[in-house]
Amino acid sequence: MGLESKLDEIRGVFPHIDGMIYLGAAGSAPFSLVVYDAVMDCWNRRRRGSDLEGTGHAWFSEKAVQCREEAARLINADADDICFVSRVVQGLNMVRDIIGHNDPWAKGDNVVLTDQAYPSTGHTMLALRRMGVELRKVGNVNGRIMREDMEAAVDDRTKLVCINRTSVGSGFTYDVEAVCSIAHEAGALVVDDAIQTLGAKVIDVKRDGVDFLVSGSYKWQCGPPEAGILYVRRELCEGLEPAFWSYINVDRGPGVTGMDMFPFGAQDHDPLESYPASFPGNAQRFEPGTTATDQLWGWHAALRWLNSLGKEKIEERVHGLGGYLMEGLREIGCDVKTPDDPEEGALNTLRHGLIMYSTGSYEGDQASARAMRARPLKPIGGPTVKYQGGFGGIRVSPHIYNTEGEIDAFVEYQKQVMKRL
Ligand SMILES: Cc1ncc(COP(=O)(O)O)c(C=O)c1O
Repeated sequence: MGLESKLDEIRGVFPHIDGMIYLGAAGSAPFSLVVYDAVMDCWNRRRRGSDLEGTGHAWFSEKAVQCREEAARLINADADDICFVSRVVQGLNMVRDIIGHNDPWAKGDNVVLTDQAYPSTGHTMLALRRMGVELRKVGNVNGRIMREDMEAAVDDRTKLVCINRTSVGSGFTYDVEAVCSIAHEAGALVVDDAIQTLGAKVIDVKRDGVDFLVSGSYKWQCGPPEAGILYVRRELCEGLEPAFWSYINVDRGPGVTGMDMFPFGAQDHDPLESYPASFPGNAQRFEPGTTATDQLWGWHAALRWLNSLGKEKIEERVHGLGGYLMEGLREIGCDVKTPDDPEEGALNTLRHGLIMYSTGSYEGDQASARAMRARPLKPIGGPTVKYQGGFGGIRVSPHIYNTEGEIDAFVEYQKQVMKRL
């Protein structure tokens, strides 16, 4: 049975969505009671004075372990192959610096990204220009990143290929396995920012062979605002020393966890000699330890909730709502830009529920997005105009809490707005 049968239960998690038609998961998830209850549970335990129930330092919290397990289930990874980040840009900075720490960035190296990259991808890599690293931008062809263009951009001086698994504005989604095979053939690594995919579409890091995957928590993941994950492919870990050294993350051997990792109680405790620099042989070695414990509790609850619904069922429902929306928009004469089916020769023509369309003109798109917010009785939240690399339109992003009825109302309103344009 699909998620339609659980619609009331799902909508009950988001108490604010009855006051509007919310079609903006790509911006951020609506307020969630699952997250709220978990965060409050954390704080209530603290208030009662029970600091021992994992509500203390995020580093030592058993929630961290549980949270990694839930995240791992969603991307088909092992729990140890994940560390936490506070948001995507932190993960991207870490990847750039881990690579440079182990094999210094040098003049003549290059990083390949695309003109569809989210600004934090581009901005983070801009730092490398100061070292003479070339940032190679693959241009889109009507939103598509063509295989031959990517192949031409990647060469033996490419150290890193950066992609955003699903494009922020258009919804175009990569076949990441194909990108990884192009990069790996040339000896380059791939970092995949999957914040616009995780929680909407099944991700399988093992099948894809991706080297680094980073995601935040607050969009399709329905999590709290300041958490996220960084996955690192296990085979890479031993060869990559962290750029951010965390004294708590050194490997003290089997069974040594929690406060025992931190031997302050030992008489011979020494700020240098007690912390031999041997890191775990997995992504734990990169743990920056910056996620606040209450956010971790909320993040864990959100991921557990998604897993309880089933990632395949979520994908089916989100994809179905996206298709329904595309159909409705076409019927009223809009130009739907997100592809229906994967296309030969393009690397990013998969999709889920993030849909881009145009009314036919930039002005019409802007006016439509404004009119949605001002719709009488129930405003429509979420639709917004996005442009990247000259390719753009209106972005709409229904998620599992939306109904076909809401999409009908949205399309009908767009039709009325178009008549007034
Ligand atoms: C593709 C993509 N990456 C990253 C982000 C946000 O990154 P951060 O959480 O670091 O601000 C967004 C936000 O819209 C996004 O769409």
